[in-house]
Amino acid sequence: MTVVGLDLGGTKIAAGAFDGERLLSRVLLPTPKEGGEAVVAALAEAARRAEEEAGVRALALGLGTPGPLDFREGVIRFTPNIPGLQNFPIRRLLEEATGRPVYLENDANAAALAEHHLGAGKGEKSSLFLTVSTGIGGGVVLEGRVLRGERGQGGELGHTTLLPGGPVCGCGLEGCLEALAAGRALEREAGYAYGRPVDTRELFRLYEEKDPKAERILLQAARYVGIGLASLVKAFDPGVVILGGGIALNAPEGYFEALQEAYRRYLQGWEAPPVRKALLGPEAGLLGAALTAYLEARDGSG
Ligand code: BGC
Ligand code: NA
Ligand code: ZN
Repeated sequence: MTVVGLDLGGTKIAAGAFDGERLLSRVLLPTPKEGGEAVVAALAEAARRAEEEAGVRALALGLGTPGPLDFREGVIRFTPNIPGLQNFPIRRLLEEATGRPVYLENDANAAALAEHHLGAGKGEKSSLFLTVSTGIGGGVVLEGRVLRGERGQGGELGHTTLLPGGPVCGCGLEGCLEALAAGRALEREAGYAYGRPVDTRELFRLYEEKDPKAERILLQAARYVGIGLASLVKAFDPGVVILGGGIALNAPEGYFEALQEAYRRYLQGWEAPPVRKALLGPEAGLLGAALTAYLEARDGSG
C-alpha cells in the first residue's frame, strides 16, 4: 500500500509518497499567499508530482497542517501563522481535488508521531514532542497514539501561557510560550534590541560572537522553553521529551544548555525525563503526515 504525505507550512508545502517504511519521493512547492483555494490547488499539485516521481498511485493522502483541527468535519479552526485558513473545510476540498480519502493531522502532532515511531522516541511507550520554529508546536504520544483531545486541540503546547500580560501571540492571547520563544519572538526582540530587522540566523551569529544582546535574547528564550517543558512534564510524565524545529536544532550549543538547566531547575525534586534532540529533522512532519494516512487507511482507526 502506498500513500502520499503532505506537510503544509507557512512558506512551503512538502509532499512525498510513502510505502509504510520510507519516502519514495520528495516534492517542495511554495505555499500560496492567496488563501484557501490556492492552497488546496497547490497541495493537490504537490501530491500529483510526488506520485509521478515515485511512479505510484496512492490509496490515501495524509495532510499535516498547523492549527487546531475539527477532525469530525475536516476543518482547520484557525492557523496562527498562515492567513486565509480560518474555519476552512480543507479535507473535503482536497478530497474533491484528488479523488482520494484525506486524513488530517496537526503538523506537530504528525511530527511527534514520526519521531515517536521512527526517530528519537523509538522504543518508548510515550513521548512529548516540542518543535520550535516560526511558531511552537507540540505533540503528545501515549501508548503509540497521538493525543488529539476531545476537540482536536490537544497537543497545542506552544500556546501554554507562561507570562500573563506578556507579548501578544499569533493566536491572539498574551504570553504564550510561542510568543516568548518561537522564531518570530526572537526576531521581534532582536528588532527592539538592535533597532533594525535581525533574522534568527544573524542572531545566532551574533551570539557566537558573544554579543551580549544576542546572548540575553537567545538564552532567555531557551529558558522559557525549558520552563514550559518542565510544566508539561508534570501534566504528562512522558518517557522522553523530544525537541525539534529549526530554532531548537540550529541554535548554538549554549541554547540547549540553558534550556536543559532551566528544565532541571523547574523539575527540582521531580524525576526529569531525558530531553533528546529530534532525529528526523525537517522531514518529521512529512513522514508523520504520511504515517497518519498509512495507519488510518490500514487500520481504519478513525
Ligand atoms: C500552531 C500549531 C502548530 C505550530 C507549528 C502553532 O502556532 O498553533 O497548531 O503545530 O504553530 O506549526
Ligand atoms: Na500539536
Ligand atoms: Zn498563543
